[in-house]
Amino acid sequence: MEKSLDILKLMTDYNAPDLRRINHALKVYGIAQYIAGGENLNDYETLIIKTAALLHDIGIHEAEKRFNSPAGIYQEQLGPEVALPILEKAGFNNEDIEKINYIIAHHHTYNIKDNKLLRIIIEADLIVNIDEGEFGPNADYSRIKNENFVTETGKSLFDRLILNK
Ligand SMILES: [Fe+2]
Repeated sequence: MEKSLDILKLMTDYNAPDLRRINHALKVYGIAQYIAGGENLNDYETLIIKTAALLHDIGIHEAEKRFNSPAGIYQEQLGPEVALPILEKAGFNNEDIEKINYIIAHHHTYNIKDNKLLRIIIEADLIVNIDEGEFGPNADYSRIKNENFVTETGKSLFDRLILNK
């Protein structure tokens, strides 16, 4: 079985019964694959994207438990240790785990522009977060796009889904 399908199952089992978080991960997984497809990633990079998308918020329950907050900074801090046994169980090697955990640990660190895989996860997460109402009704979507979107596919998807709807 493709490793990202194992991750899909493990992520769902880990998050159950929190359907809202499972759905959030699935939405980011879908949008991230769309962006990855437009950016001509190879199969390996696409696997990293799919896996990181499914697990990007995996630290949120620990953050709520330990810090009483789902804030991005705590998720980034705690996500990699929660993801590690899941990634090992799905058969990822140390090099893969390092790449995936780097994305998990930086997916709210919007100023790192040179890691394309990280940017794709950030872009997909922003689109889904906007749709989920995270930024409120008065958010400046043009500014969110200009400050955070790097890939051409992500920018054009943002225009179609958010700016021009
Ligand atoms: Fe997220």
